[in-house]
Amino acid sequence: MKATGQLRDEHGGIKVMLDVMEKVCDTLKTTGGIDREHFDGILEFLKVFVDKCHHGKEEELLFPALVAAGIPEKGPIAVMLYEHEVGRAHVAAISQAYDEFTAGDRSSSRQIMQEAHGYISLLRSHIDKENTILFVMADSHLSEQKQDELFEGFEKIEEDRIGLGKHEEFHGLIHNLSRIYLD
Ligand SMILES: [Fe+2]
Ligand SMILES: [Fe+2]
Repeated sequence: MKATGQLRDEHGGIKVMLDVMEKVCDTLKTTGGIDREHFDGILEFLKVFVDKCHHGKEEELLFPALVAAGIPEKGPIAVMLYEHEVGRAHVAAISQAYDEFTAGDRSSSRQIMQEAHGYISLLRSHIDKENTILFVMADSHLSEQKQDELFEGFEKIEEDRIGLGKHEEFHGLIHNLSRIYLD
């Protein structure tokens, strides 16, 4: 598999989780309640799988390889980096509002929903841009050997950042939550 193929696969999992998040927010809106275990899992997924691991692979390995292959840093790559930052700010705000909510401040649910909706629409369009523009450029600019090298680097990031079994655990979480919220 190409390195960009691995990232596209991860985008697939992330998009499912965004759909789950949307349903969790609908439930929060209609019932005023949130399943703590499910939401804790979603937040961990956003912080670890999406940011530490997926964005780590893009920022530390893919984007520098694209710059080295002649794709200007100030074009689409700068936009992608900026959107990663905006996404991080949304996740931090969701986390903070959720802490307040679980501590008893029910009015924080509005903040959770607002930040979650901002994050969901940002990430959906971010993923579409990567899939249809940046990764297409990557596939035409990177040699097969470079893609192989990146793939190996990605495996190492995964091992170092989240450990071997954790990636599978996240896939199990996506599967479980999608059965609960999306079937
Ligand atoms: Fe990205
Ligand atoms: Fe991505």
